[in-house]
Amino acid sequence: MPLFLALSWICLGAEPVPLQKTADLPSFSGYPEALVCMDGSRVESQLAWRAKRRGELIRLIQHYEYGDQPVTRVNPVAMPIYENKVALGGKAWLREFAVRLAPGAPALHLLLILPAQADKPVPVFLGISFTGNQSITADPGVLVATCWQYPKYPGVEANKATEASRGTAAGVWNPELIIDAGYGLAIFQANQADPDRADERGGLQPWLRSQEEYLPEKWGCVSLWAWTMSRMVDVLEREKSVDAKRLIGVGHSRLGKTAYLAGALDERFTLVIPHQAGCGGTAPARGTVGESVKRINTSFPHWFNSRFKEFNERVAALPFDQHALAALIAPRPVLFSNALEDQWANPDGQFNMLQAADPVYKLLGVEGLAARTKPSLNQLSAGRLGYWERPGKHEMNRTDWKAFLEYTRKHLGS
Ligand code: GCU
Repeated sequence: MPLFLALSWICLGAEPVPLQKTADLPSFSGYPEALVCMDGSRVESQLAWRAKRRGELIRLIQHYEYGDQPVTRVNPVAMPIYENKVALGGKAWLREFAVRLAPGAPALHLLLILPAQADKPVPVFLGISFTGNQSITADPGVLVATCWQYPKYPGVEANKATEASRGTAAGVWNPELIIDAGYGLAIFQANQADPDRADERGGLQPWLRSQEEYLPEKWGCVSLWAWTMSRMVDVLEREKSVDAKRLIGVGHSRLGKTAYLAGALDERFTLVIPHQAGCGGTAPARGTVGESVKRINTSFPHWFNSRFKEFNERVAALPFDQHALAALIAPRPVLFSNALEDQWANPDGQFNMLQAADPVYKLLGVEGLAARTKPSLNQLSAGRLGYWERPGKHEMNRTDWKAFLEYTRKHLGS
């Protein structure tokens, strides 16, 4: 046990409460409070939050929902495989790396696009993407991904990306807009880390399973993707041109759930943007609008751990709700962004999660929610518990990025 934790437990007289079997958990009426511990005591000080409840919440969300993260020791090495110093019409410096977490691990491709003219390290958005790096820009030198791909995306044939996929996600990630605002974009593809299929294990899984015992309550995809985001942070921390004190984690939908978890577990994310992250992300598990826990566990059994399925019929027994992750992100800024037509992701319920996380921000002495009620459409609520909703559907687009950039500029500068 780390010395700091040992000392805190002694100071606070707190032993970690053993975690109960799902069937023995009592039902909660409403959302379990972020500041009430498993033993019923209320967190009244920043020390008790830090030393007791924060760790408890991490245990709870991992044990009952996402699963652990791998314990294999890694030391990611990034080998440059392509460079273009005059990308995006000369305004960007683009580099692609093959990242190996350890000798023998499969390579993951990380694309880094930075403003060409920057004279000091720049804050960087670290994105996890549905599609390969070649889809982010039309640059002909970026490697076409060879891993399994979702069939519905442009330029994908027989679940493989083709040359026709180049630049097709530029309107999703908007690298030019990001560069023009003085930020950088680092991006990699989720499917390369872990293919998004219940019936296909590729990416890091076979290698990880050769390194450590795998149990079904261990990581689901979301946890493994989030862990991989953190490994990319390991890489970015060593890049001289990146301001690693200002790293912003971003993902959309299932990958928004991922960015949210990554930000909750890894404090090196300075700001977190889980976009339209919905059930299993920023929407309440107890929500009555949109996707339910039972539905997500049935449609996507590989995203969460095996225990989460035990809550399909008794979600009221979950000893936390999704605001626990925002509480773990506190006091760092987090922006929940949504779209009116995307009721599947339960935007109103997401605002309730921000309200439920607010007491933790207050305890830590910062402004959490700036608005008491959900802001109207196109109004960015810029407290550290930020909220943004636009008209339109489930997608990530240029309008969203304008809001992301405005929010980031407010909290991190540029
Ligand atoms: C499905 C799923 C959502 C998820 C979304 C996505 O709609 O039900 O939970 O967020 O896919 O990842 O696009």
